[in-house]
Amino acid sequence: MTLHIADAEQVLTEKSDQLNTRWYPYYHLAARAGWMNDPNGLVWFDGWFHAFYQHHPYSTEWGPMHWGHARSRDLMRWEHLPVALAPEGPEDKDGCFSGSAVVNGNELALIYTGHKFHGDPSSEDNLYQVQCLATSRDGVNFTRKGQILDTPTGLHHFRDPKVWKEGEMWYMVVGARVEDTGQVRLYRSEDLHHWHEQGILAEAQHGMGYMWECPDFFTLDDKQVLMFSPQGIAAEGYANRNLFQSGYIVGRWQPGEKFIQESKFQELDHGHDFYAPQSFLAPDGRRIVIGWMDMWESPLPEQQDGWAGMFTLPRELVITPNNHLQMRPVHEVESLREEWYSWPVSTLKNKQLCVMHNCEAAEVIITWDTSLSEAEQYGIALDDGMRLYIDNQAKRLILERNYPQHNLCGQRSIPMPPGDELNLRVFFDRSSVEVFVNDGEACLSSRIYPQQRQLNVFAWSGNAILKECGAWNLR
Ligand code: FRU
Repeated sequence: MTLHIADAEQVLTEKSDQLNTRWYPYYHLAARAGWMNDPNGLVWFDGWFHAFYQHHPYSTEWGPMHWGHARSRDLMRWEHLPVALAPEGPEDKDGCFSGSAVVNGNELALIYTGHKFHGDPSSEDNLYQVQCLATSRDGVNFTRKGQILDTPTGLHHFRDPKVWKEGEMWYMVVGARVEDTGQVRLYRSEDLHHWHEQGILAEAQHGMGYMWECPDFFTLDDKQVLMFSPQGIAAEGYANRNLFQSGYIVGRWQPGEKFIQESKFQELDHGHDFYAPQSFLAPDGRRIVIGWMDMWESPLPEQQDGWAGMFTLPRELVITPNNHLQMRPVHEVESLREEWYSWPVSTLKNKQLCVMHNCEAAEVIITWDTSLSEAEQYGIALDDGMRLYIDNQAKRLILERNYPQHNLCGQRSIPMPPGDELNLRVFFDRSSVEVFVNDGEACLSSRIYPQQRQLNVFAWSGNAILKECGAWNLR
């Protein structure tokens, strides 16, 4: 199927006027209308942060992929731009799949996967995924340059190129599936047009997945981080509960050498909805990551409202000496703050208290004294659909959602972090919650669908002590 940008724009103009916005985000990026998945081509170019995304403008379901496009001066206030890529074919006739962006001189270059079937699309034997290039001078209109890297012989799944520059050379990692083994392959180029194979950077061992999607490879301090989204890892206890995971391996690498792994695969976010994260460098040197705040095959109730899918907040990445990645919301989020409301509570015993009548776009900050709180459960609750609480018997911090009307019920959790205090920074938007634990030690992100927006604090079966608590209303 061949689809054009002008048709997509016409449909989006009509459909964006008809959205029901009850769950549409105030300060997270979502498509104007229709479907969105992975972040693509995150880049700083010409004074703007650009974000592209996997996009199906014609419906709220996944379909032939386009690249949606928005830009921002501050990573918070986004301006929608025309669709950047449509599956105009022939090399991407069935979809412009995920990829990345780099600045090459005075041009912005998009490197993405052309997805196409040769013959009957119901058979994977007919699937081909090739890497393609498109460039732009103005950062808005893109010229398609066609295929730059063919599918390796014998492969079908070969996608999601992430490109970066090392000295005078361009490098690219691509996710691949070789029978039932996920891989990341490495390529090198002098000009972005001609690419040379550099071997396998990493591959799945011991049940680590049949396909590795959306690889990203970058330096943080003096370490190299391989971030990717493996498919096919089995859940184990509290770990790997989502259909697919996103995480990272830390190691050491330099051009021409092997990637020496120093850590096992670790999940990056512990909520229900986090996938296909991509990183980029801000001009001030921060490594920032944005994920898709949804999960494949999980219900998206906003589809009835004319849109589907959203991004997480942009988060700054930090690496600890023990090879652990921490994520904190970028400081620009503070520019959204309006009034601060301090909650007049310091202890709670066997009760709940309303602390906000309308928690729609808010940053909640709470510090619990965990050494003195012996309640069996204590935390916050948004209406009766979402709770974020400490379970003192299980010794876990739990994010729970309970929306049986939307077929969305269940918990995600992390072990209680050690220490006498627990600090939580919780970002609510109309249909999302992102929890940053102890300034980035852990993060949990989930979609939520509140009917009422009353926020309560509670402590059951015992007392709980609050050291600090309150909320910023966000603009
Ligand atoms: C990840 C992914 C990518 C692919 C894209 C298609 O969520 O499956 O591997 O390029 O989505 O929309």
